[in-house]
Amino acid sequence: MTTTNDYSPGLEGVISNATTISYLDLDKEEIVIRGYDLIELAQKLSYLETAYLVMHGKEPTQQEAAALRKTLSDQATLPPEVYAMLKSLPKQTHPMDALRTGISMLAGYEDPAILNDHHPEPNFAKGLKIMAKAPVIACNAYRANQGQPSIPADPKLGFTENILWMINGKRPDKESVDMLDMVLTCYIEHELANSTFTARIIASSLCDIYGAITGAVASLKGPLHGGANEAAAQMLVDILQKGGAAKAEQYITDIRAAHGRIMGFGHRVYMRKYDPRAFLLKDYLPRLLHKKPEGEEMYAIYRKVEEVMFRETKLYPNADYPIGFILYLLDVPIPLFTPLFLCARIPGLIAHVEEQHKENRLFRPRVIYLGPRELHPEKAGAGR
Ligand code: CMC
Repeated sequence: MTTTNDYSPGLEGVISNATTISYLDLDKEEIVIRGYDLIELAQKLSYLETAYLVMHGKEPTQQEAAALRKTLSDQATLPPEVYAMLKSLPKQTHPMDALRTGISMLAGYEDPAILNDHHPEPNFAKGLKIMAKAPVIACNAYRANQGQPSIPADPKLGFTENILWMINGKRPDKESVDMLDMVLTCYIEHELANSTFTARIIASSLCDIYGAITGAVASLKGPLHGGANEAAAQMLVDILQKGGAAKAEQYITDIRAAHGRIMGFGHRVYMRKYDPRAFLLKDYLPRLLHKKPEGEEMYAIYRKVEEVMFRETKLYPNADYPIGFILYLLDVPIPLFTPLFLCARIPGLIAHVEEQHKENRLFRPRVIYLGPRELHPEKAGAGR
């Protein structure tokens, strides 16, 4: 029986699923992905190799990795109507909203029988289409916003290289591609984040994978979740414009005095521990600073904010703090930060939707009712 003792606001500490995909092991300070440490994967495997592992539970052979690359390359196209939709959106549409609309729209291109077939094979096939097309939608949504012509994916380029290519039509350097690849890997899967839970809830009604991932996009946009990478970078830029590192402490003090949050810090699960992804990625920052004239000053701001936050709140950075700065240094436009997080997370979402469909039980929790009781409608003047 459900009692009020079971109530946990925000479902904090509640176990809602058994999974074989991933687990945040707080004792070992490890993000376990299919039995592997994510931080080790990020240093040793490519994003696509890790994607295969996340989706299939085993490292790919060379042939399996090549087949995944080819499928994604073949599928990295958009129907002309989706390009037209991106161009027709109001100019202030955030690329994350365009991505949500675009993924939802793609469902209509599936044969209804396949769309509603939730067996592993069709689910993976549909999931890979979404994975291949999402970066094309995101980058071209941003380009449409800017009034720039679309850039389709180039079949000669790899998955990560193509993302940088579609942003600005320039062939990216290896350093940028490798760094972005590691960022994507760090974002690939993270247990039951709000967006992953959202996808599983939607999948549990036996809705299709397009609907589940569309819902995840909406969830990830929020600044308490994926939107934090954008907000964290915006904060660094703001401090730079307001006087640089010398002004960082005052900036943070002012926000805290107004009971505001410092984006990119804190985490529901880690909270008083360093997010292992942030710990790994911070060491890559110094070697990227040369990419922007303001890089050194922003790094001084970055360190100052971290120092003040730890001294004053004992909160550590989460992954969004270094990643916001890294994407800025790689010249990715800030409105694309959260869409790229979503693109990176798709293999995790595919794995969770697939797992949910395989062992489904509808999510349907209860409430503690705090509203009135025993009210009755007025008899006179009732509309019936
Ligand atoms: N800045 C200032 N204070 C904070 C922050 C922060 N970033 N995070 C937590 N706190 C404080 C909060 O005010 C509260 O203090 P008090 O107990 O005095 O009221 C205490 O810490 C506990 O916070 P909470 O909101 O009850 O904890 P939560 O588990 O709901 O919060 C969080 C988790 C991620 C929503 C929160 O840390 C936060 O808002 N962080 C900023 C947004 C952010 O960076 N989100 C990305 C999360 S990680 C990657 C991802 O999922 O995208």
